[in-house]
Amino acid sequence: MNVFITGNSSGLGYGLTEALLERDAIVWGMSRTGCDLKPKYDDVLRDRLQDLGSLNSIDEGLDSLLSDCLRLDLVILNAGILGRIQEISNTDVHDLEHIMRVNVWANKVILDWFIERQIPVDQVVAISSGAAVNMNYGWGGYSLSKAALNNLVTLYAQEMPDTHLTAFAPGLVDTGMQEYLCGDVDSEEFPSVQKLKDARGSDDMPSAREAGDQIIDLLDTLKNDYESGAFVDIRSM
Ligand SMILES: NC(=O)c1ccc[n+]([C@@H]2O[C@H](COP(=O)([O-])OP(=O)(O)OC[C@H]3O[C@@H](n4cnc5c(N)ncnc54)[C@H](OP(=O)(O)O)[C@@H]3O)[C@@H](O)[C@H]2O)c1
Repeated sequence: MNVFITGNSSGLGYGLTEALLERDAIVWGMSRTGCDLKPKYDDVLRDRLQDLGSLNSIDEGLDSLLSDCLRLDLVILNAGILGRIQEISNTDVHDLEHIMRVNVWANKVILDWFIERQIPVDQVVAISSGAAVNMNYGWGGYSLSKAALNNLVTLYAQEMPDTHLTAFAPGLVDTGMQEYLCGDVDSEEFPSVQKLKDARGSDDMPSAREAGDQIIDLLDTLKNDYESGAFVDIRSM
């Protein structure tokens, strides 16, 4: 299985990469800090340091990373940032722009690259979130970006007829993102984070590796049971 994944240096992307490599996949990954699984899987893991917020350099990064890749079974658009939990009215518009660049526009540039280079891709899974539809108080930039990501996936599904695309909410996963949400955010001011604090350490918030395995096990179901372009939340499957 040939897989390209973004944001595989930590969290869910790391868990997915490890699970894929253990299932004998060949993985091409991109992140700013790199994936430390590289030495162990040197012959089957290609890794490129890339800031996805720097949109103008993504094409060059993909040209270099994927120079030997003729087709992909799976593209996982996983890299994402949360931003601060705060009122949207108190959020600087430039911070919102940055979240949109990483969580939405970088993914557009990546999909355009595959289309332009005519590299066949069987399946795309863009990692979205329940926040795409919840619009909870304080989740402004993140919620907006994931809502836009869902719609981006629906739009591209119409223009990539040979590829199956899903915007996929993975549920709660115990990663660095939760470190901030469960540690630094005041649940009295932002009540929606209390649910996360309660879930941490329980089966309701699996490790990144457990979530990675779950997602890989669901790939065929996503492809066979859901229309291309759909938003699917793991909690409704
Ligand atoms: N954790 C959850 O409960 C949860 C729930 C729903 C959805 N999600 C989604 O799951 C995805 C992964 O999140 P996570 O929880 O695993 O967070 P994480 O531990 O913070 O990991 C984020 C990943 O994205 C990469 N990344 C961030 N900014 C980047 C940039 N400018 N350029 C390149 N790579 C960048 C990071 O790599 P570098 O820092 O090395 O660049 C890292 O590998 C995100 O899309 C998130 O929205 C998570």
